[in-house]
Amino acid sequence: MSPAVRPSWNDLPQGLRDALVRRLGHVSTAEVQSGGFTPGVAVRLAAVQGRAFVKAVPADHDLAPKYRAEAAVAARLPHTTPAPQLRWTGDLDGWVVLVFDDIAGRYPDLSPDSPDVPVAVAEVASLAATLTPSPVDAPLAPIARGGQLHGWGELLRAGAGDRLVAGLGPWERDRLPLLAELERAWVPRAAGPSLVHGDIRPDNLLIRDEDGALMVIDWAQPSIGAPWQDVVDLIPHMIMAGHEPRAAEKTLIGVPAWEELPAEVVTSYAAAYAGYWTRMSRQPSPPGVPNLRAYQARAAQAALAWTRARLLQ
Ligand SMILES: Nc1ncnc2c1ncn2[C@@H]1O[C@H](COP(=O)(O)OP(=O)(O)O)[C@@H](O)[C@H]1O
Ligand SMILES: [Mg+2]
Repeated sequence: MSPAVRPSWNDLPQGLRDALVRRLGHVSTAEVQSGGFTPGVAVRLAAVQGRAFVKAVPADHDLAPKYRAEAAVAARLPHTTPAPQLRWTGDLDGWVVLVFDDIAGRYPDLSPDSPDVPVAVAEVASLAATLTPSPVDAPLAPIARGGQLHGWGELLRAGAGDRLVAGLGPWERDRLPLLAELERAWVPRAAGPSLVHGDIRPDNLLIRDEDGALMVIDWAQPSIGAPWQDVVDLIPHMIMAGHEPRAAEKTLIGVPAWEELPAEVVTSYAAAYAGYWTRMSRQPSPPGVPNLRAYQARAAQAALAWTRARLLQ
């Protein structure tokens, strides 16, 4: 996983550091975290008041509303949710700050035969038990996720002479009209009553050292919808970690939300991710996030392999 370029503790403005020290007491160690692609601050602190994980972004940054939305969701998650508790949120010295319980842990390994795979599948599948009906208000999944997870339609409309289309592989270039149609069919099936995390991937999951429990972090893309979306989102990440598409799907056998999902919805969802990541990987890099587009290009290859496997079956 290619990390974001994040500021380290000593690079943070003195005002923010002082304000954090006023809230948490003297900070003895600060470990800057590298997962994720947000150019904000993500730092594990050992302070007088105990350990804490702090996320912060300048209040005038484009991402500030996203941080505030994450805080609103994190504050309302039921205590039984396998997620770190939000201890405090507010503005400090011009920064939006979220202070969470610190989790000592590691990302799950989603490669073939990894013992983390069944743990991740079971825990993500069981989120819906605590999050139905949704305990928070959030955008509806068919609109929020359906409005984002697509890309073939844009590429089709760009036309054969477009630079973005010229860079496609021959398989997808020859099937653009089919893929553009396919990528929309899952959207009505995204509707439902549950809180959907919406950004399930290994760097938003932590296996806690203390007890091996899987914790779900980074609730910054919430929506209200059908719970199959979070567990099915593991599939492209398992493929990125080395699974064959069919083998990745097999790890979901026995999960009711997966068993009940019509085959054409899965194929459509795979195509939607392939289109989304293909489209996004061709955008210019956002400032301060140099590794995102290469990551999306790898993710697009995984989702394309998944789509092809489903269409060839
Ligand atoms: N509560 C926590 N305790 C310890 N580390 C955490 C905690 N929450 C997140 N992290 C680490 O910080 C990284 C970035 O946090 P995350 O909430 O995913 O932010 P981003 O929006 O930047 O992806 C995670 O990938 C993880 O390594
Ligand atoms: Mg993250």
